[in-house]
Amino acid sequence: MKVGFIGGGLDSAIGRAHFGGINIDRKYSLDAGVFSIEKNINSESAHFYGVEATRVYEDISSFIGGEKGRLDAAIVLSPTPLHFEHINSLLDAGIPVITEKSLCTNSQDAQRIAERVHQENKFLSVTFTYTGYPMVREIREMVTKGLLGEVISIHVEMAQESFIRASATGAKPTPQAWRQLDYEIPSVTLDLGSHVVNLLEFIASDQVVKVAALANHAGEVSDLVDNVRAIGEMGQGTPISLLWNKVTLGKRNGLALSINGSKGALSWIQEEPELLRFAGKDGALSIIDRSHSMITLASESRYQRFKVGHPAGYIEAFANLYLDIADDLATHKTGKKSENPFTHSAANSAHGLRVLEAIHQSAAHTEWVEIRG
Ligand SMILES: NC(=O)c1ccc[n+]([C@@H]2O[C@H](COP(=O)([O-])OP(=O)(O)OC[C@H]3O[C@@H](n4cnc5c(N)ncnc54)[C@H](O)[C@@H]3O)[C@@H](O)[C@H]2O)c1
Repeated sequence: MKVGFIGGGLDSAIGRAHFGGINIDRKYSLDAGVFSIEKNINSESAHFYGVEATRVYEDISSFIGGEKGRLDAAIVLSPTPLHFEHINSLLDAGIPVITEKSLCTNSQDAQRIAERVHQENKFLSVTFTYTGYPMVREIREMVTKGLLGEVISIHVEMAQESFIRASATGAKPTPQAWRQLDYEIPSVTLDLGSHVVNLLEFIASDQVVKVAALANHAGEVSDLVDNVRAIGEMGQGTPISLLWNKVTLGKRNGLALSINGSKGALSWIQEEPELLRFAGKDGALSIIDRSHSMITLASESRYQRFKVGHPAGYIEAFANLYLDIADDLATHKTGKKSENPFTHSAANSAHGLRVLEAIHQSAAHTEWVEIRG
């Protein structure tokens, strides 16, 4: 698949992770881009990524002018508040879109994108990285097969320290300017809550229907909301608890989940992505890796780029997701609709943003909020 980047320059946080992800399995070639708004960094990034100087652009309109009809997709890695404009411009030009989360800063804009993708038969796929981890997919499989019995409750959390931890010189944290603002949905929630809700619904194969939440400010980045926790219920009645924040010292990226079932309980932490912890009804506590006999999905050959005992991680999770997106793009080219369970649509993202809005509505008004649609 011939692709171009919008954002993702060497001055970005996420660009090189996507570059690694698209290259591992040799399904993509990065041929063009507007990588950075800084002219020098734009050309340095192109050089680093091996993109010809003639296919590097200063802005998205010249990118579209030069690349329309030449690419299989554009990958949107620009700051989240620019996604709505960038995605619509690409869709207008008939360029298939792969985009980082969050799709947009509010559910209304996301719904508008979802509707046009559906009505105009466009291609759009959202890269929720963490669902690319084989063990996360295995958990989903185990829940679907009923290996845990009746699901009693699910907890997902993503605690980080980036809005409270001092730099090496003792200075206050200074995230990117666009992360120092709250939008219709607070920045911390667009960054982290989007992953938490997506992961929850992915592993449960169910959707959140109501929530009650608390949200406050505790860190050192202006007066942003930076600490959120919620409880709620899924469509099948499963109780849930969620939290995300950027004010937990010691948590570099504390993404973790646990599912408590009538026959077994499972837990997973992102910093040890190849291990599942399983507790059985007989009292046994097990640590399971991809070579264990309970594992049926994470043992597939596509996830064995090297043998067990050699940990795969975050970049491989991107690569797994990009393999699925390549399949979806190929299916789209044939005029068919993909039914891939591992990829994320605009409609699904719009729903996720409705859940996040409901969480902040609940926190603002101290009330239970039901999710519409
Ligand atoms: N899935 C994940 O784990 C994960 C992690 C980090 C970021 N993200 C997402 O990736 C996106 C980018 O985040 P980031 O942390 O890399 O941001 P960043 O601010 O570090 O980088 C943004 C990049 O976009 C470029 N840019 C800015 N304006 C642009 C424009 N008008 N046109 C083209 N390029 C432009 C910048 O020069 C920079 O290279 C966000 O949507 C964020 O939510 C996802």
